[in-house]
Amino acid sequence: MEWMNRLSLKARLLVIVFFSISICSFIAISGFLYFNKQEFYRGITEKSRAIHLRLDAAAHYVATQDGLGPVIDRMKAKYKSPEEMTKEDKEIVLKQVPIVAAMKIGSKDADKDNYEFRIFSDEPRNKDNSATKEELEIFMKFKADSALKDLVVNNGETLTVFRPVRLEKEKGCFKCHGDPQTSPWNNGKDILGYKMENWEEGKLHGVFAIKTDFNKLKLASSNHDFIPPEGILILGIILGAVIALIMATLMIKKPIQGLSAITNDLNTSGTQVSSAATQIATSAEELSQATTQQAASLQETSASIEEISSMVSNNTSNAQEASLISEKSLGSTQRGKEVVDHMIKAIGDINISNAGIADQISTTNKEIENIVKIINEIGDKTKVINDIVFQTKLLSFNASVEAARAGEQGKGFAVVAEEVGNLAAMSGAAAQEITSMLESSIRSVEEIVKRSKDSVGKLIIEGKDKVDSGTKIAHECEEVFNDILSNISNVSRMVSEISSASQEQSQGIREITKAVAQLDQVTHQNTSTASQSSSAAGNLSSQASQLNALVQSLVRTIEGDK
Ligand code: HEC
Repeated sequence: MEWMNRLSLKARLLVIVFFSISICSFIAISGFLYFNKQEFYRGITEKSRAIHLRLDAAAHYVATQDGLGPVIDRMKAKYKSPEEMTKEDKEIVLKQVPIVAAMKIGSKDADKDNYEFRIFSDEPRNKDNSATKEELEIFMKFKADSALKDLVVNNGETLTVFRPVRLEKEKGCFKCHGDPQTSPWNNGKDILGYKMENWEEGKLHGVFAIKTDFNKLKLASSNHDFIPPEGILILGIILGAVIALIMATLMIKKPIQGLSAITNDLNTSGTQVSSAATQIATSAEELSQATTQQAASLQETSASIEEISSMVSNNTSNAQEASLISEKSLGSTQRGKEVVDHMIKAIGDINISNAGIADQISTTNKEIENIVKIINEIGDKTKVINDIVFQTKLLSFNASVEAARAGEQGKGFAVVAEEVGNLAAMSGAAAQEITSMLESSIRSVEEIVKRSKDSVGKLIIEGKDKVDSGTKIAHECEEVFNDILSNISNVSRMVSEISSASQEQSQGIREITKAVAQLDQVTHQNTSTASQSSSAAGNLSSQASQLNALVQSLVRTIEGDK
């Protein structure tokens, strides 16, 4: 069958068309022949039956004439025994026997109607009528079934219709085939001298056969249906098949070309589908992996968002705290500013009091100068004292001298003079000491004054400078505080903005969390979808390869194996 696989669809179709036509023609012709033959056989059968009926009718007619009895009587009177009977008289007798008449008629028209007539029996009077083996079988069938009207036997060349012949009293059969007691010659023999068989009513004695030979019939009949010889039929079949083949070739040419183009397209499409399916499978696999990664990332994101959320809530509380602190700072700063204001005022006061101090110091200096003046005056007075002391000494000396001159009486005076001299000396020394003390006092006072003047002036200048720089710094402080104030209010504003932003952030984070949860769900769905599509793609791929195989086999079917 290898050659069959190599056939293209076109060749196959042509082969199919050829065989179909051949087989159809064959079946049609066979059917025609068969039915024709059946019709032919039926015609012959009917004709044979008609002949049988004609024979029956003839027998019946002869029986109804009831000529047998008188003929028998006549022959009995004419002859003493059947042996004496002339052939002609025997014929006369036989002419009155219905069955014989039927036999005669059957034989007479046989040639004219193209059939053969025969009668046979299992126990015949005439040896020619002995049944052959086959005939005996037919005979036994009739014998077994008394209701059987006829039998038709067709062996392909001849058709025979058999009909039973039974003995009937009505037809006078028993005058010869009946009870030997009734013998016309009283010797158990019938009128023609045959031994009477003593048969009974309805006994099957013989079978009529009307046999038709088809060949003879065909030769004889010119008006019968023409059946063309088989050669011509085969030629017709071949011619029809060839014409059908040519037509089929012309008709299937275009569809086959179309089919070829379609299978080519299918082939390319199949390959493309196959590769696409493979790509889809790979993509689905990748998608699956990506989705899994996405899920992991989402979980990480979720965790991060939770962290952020807690950070934001920290921020919010921090911002609130910062807000409080900045409010407090604002208060502190304002107080600081007030303090600075106070300080500036205090510095101003210090400045004023410095000036007061300077005035006071200059006043003090003047007073000190007065003191110095007084000291100088004291010094002057001390000089006076010194002069007095000098005078006193001088007086005491003079007194002592006088006393010495006075002698004893002057002794007491001398002591007093001495004492006065001593006192004067002591006073002089004291005055001297006072003078030196005054001088040193004046010097030290002057020095002190000078020094205090210098240092106080310096101090005042320094103090002034310092107050100036302090004022400057205080003003700078004020500015700085102002800056701080505005900064703090800015900070406060920003902190409140941060606070509200944080609240918005936490709202946003809640929404993000919700969205992430949804995303997570979606990702899970995606994962399952991806795995489904992965398996679907796998299916698709295998189906695509099946499709490919199918297309390949389709191509082989249409174009045959190469
Ligand atoms: C006059 C006497 C006579 C009568 C009546 C008669 N037959 Fe016969 N029959 C004969 C004779 C004689 C033959 C032999 C004829 C021959 O030699 O061919 C015969 C032959 C037959 C045969 C052929 C078989 C054979 O034995 O050779 C059949 C069948 C038959 N008869 C049936 C009948 C039937 C049925 C009737 C009644 C309708 C009948 N016969 C009436 C005398 C008679």
